[in-house]
Amino acid sequence: MDKPKVFINPKSGSIRITGEVEMVDADGNVLETLENPKFCGCGQSKEKPFCDGSHKGLLKKD
Ligand code: FES
Repeated sequence: MDKPKVFINPKSGSIRITGEVEMVDADGNVLETLENPKFCGCGQSKEKPFCDGSHKGLLKKD
């Protein structure tokens, strides 16, 4: 299996990880395993820590 890769969109702040990711608590206990999760980096998501597309309202249209 390929290593997970992290893509950070500099415009939206969204953080996409390709591959299987384990979500763990502060003690390292696995809470759930996710495939290709996308996290919010803009602070506007109502589904934090996940991106819900709310960043689209922040992007300027040229
Ligand atoms: S990055 Fe998408 S909602 Fe914040």
